[in-house]
Parts: sequence; structure tokens; C-alpha cells
Amino acid sequence: MQRLDSSVPRHIGIIMDGNGRWARRRRHPVSFGHRAGVRAIKRVLEGCEELGVEVLSVYAFSTENWSRPRAEVRALMRLFHETMQREIDEMHRRGVRIVVSGRRDELSQRMRDRIDEAMARTALNTNGILNVCLNYGGRAELVDSVRRLVEEGVPADKIDEAAIAAHLYNPELPDPDLIIRTAGESRVSNFLLWQSAYSEMLVTDTLWPDFGVDELKAAIAEYNARVRRFGGRPDELSVGSVS
Ligand code: IPE
Ligand code: IPE
Ligand code: MG
Repeated sequence: MQRLDSSVPRHIGIIMDGNGRWARRRRHPVSFGHRAGVRAIKRVLEGCEELGVEVLSVYAFSTENWSRPRAEVRALMRLFHETMQREIDEMHRRGVRIVVSGRRDELSQRMRDRIDEAMARTALNTNGILNVCLNYGGRAELVDSVRRLVEEGVPADKIDEAAIAAHLYNPELPDPDLIIRTAGESRVSNFLLWQSAYSEMLVTDTLWPDFGVDELKAAIAEYNARVRRFGGRPDELSVGSVS
């Protein structure tokens, strides 16, 4: 993929929140909001392709979301399965690589098969990456990384940041530059804990099903107005006296 502009974030993560509130406001069942949320993912992914964002990570289902009512969990799983089945051909035709991050064990065999198929079919695509965080938790990912290091017999003095990062679910993905959370709450809710150490955070009141390309562009403009220091001191401040 050709990046259009160096000011475009390479990786955007989205905590897609507000589907329930969106549905409730319309006096519809929550599943109606989740369906509208899937349409928003399609719009935003297309926007990312157009703008030259290389990776879009979407938080679809957290390790904590199992605590929701059974009917909602079942409807969500059905929706993920059905969406992957329906969209895979088009994604593949557009050259998008699909990656799924999260714990597999708790997912049904049907869902795991669908995920394996989507990842295998699109593995060589180079027109952007859609990283679907499904049964994903940042803490679980760190636990899984450390477990794998231990299983591989890596000695304690060889466990450093590079080793942990190399054992995350998808170590080849760059860290997110920008994380957007919709629906107004300023919290990370266990999303990409390791990778977001220096991400820029942006919270919008817009509910996820209402989020579109215009707002994506506005978020990127806001990102470009930020100064990323990574703990250092920008040049203009390091010249002259310390105040
Ligand atoms: C986010 O929308 C989608 C998932 C967590 C799957 P919510 O369902 O959390 O929406 P609200 O927070 O109830 O509005
Ligand atoms: C975060 O939303 C998880 C996803 C978007 C999948 P939640 O609605 O689950 O988060 P909390 O409960 O408000 O923190
Ligand atoms: Mg929510």
C-alpha cells in the first residue's frame, strides 16, 4: 500500500463503543445497534484505505464482554461469524489482509474455522490490514505472551521488552499511533495495553454506529495537531534554559 501522506497515522485503533445506546435511543433491541456498528466498520475501513492508513484495529469483543446477557453474546457471535463469511470475498478482492487478535479457546469451533480461513486467504494481501480484536483483552495478551516465553524456556534475564513484544498475538503490527474511543467514556477498557504506551488518545461523544469518514478525517487532523514526545523533549524546548 502506498501511504499518501506522512502525517497520516500508520495504525489507528478504535474502541467502538455506543452500539447499545444507539439502539436504545431508537427503541430497538441492542442487536440492531451491533448491526449498525458493523456497517460503521465497513465505512471506516474504506476511509482508512482511501487515506493510506496501513492498519485499522477494531475492538469488537473484550474478554469481559462474556459477562453480558447470554442472548446478546450469542447475537454478537452470530453477527461476527456471518459478517466474516459475507465480507471475506470483497475484502480479499480489495487486497485487505484480515488479522484476528484474541484468545481462541473460548470461541466456538465454527468461529475458529472462519477466522483461520479469513486469515489464511488474505495473508498475502498488501492493501492495508484490518485487525479484529475478538475475545481480546490486553491483560490476557500479556499473560499469554509471558506463558509462551516460559514454555519456550526463555531464562528470566532474557525476558525484556523486545521478548514480550515478540510474543504478542500479532507482533508484526506496528503500535497504534492513534486510538479513538466513541461514545464519550475516557477509559481504555483493556484494549491494546502494551501497544498503546505512546498512542495518542481521542474520545468523541459520537456513538459508534454514527461514526463515519468525516469524523475519521477530523480525528486525523486533531492527531496532526498533537506533539508526540515519547518522553523526550522536542527540539525547540531543549534549546535555551530549563524553566
Ligand atoms: C460496543 O457497544 C460494542 C461491544 C462492546 C461489542 P456497546 O454494546 O458497549 O454499547 P453501549 O456502551 O451499551 O452503548
Ligand atoms: C469496550 O466497550 C469493549 C469493546 C468496544 C469491544 P465496553 O462497553 O465493553 O466497555 P466498558 O464496559 O464501558 O468499559
Ligand atoms: Mg459499551
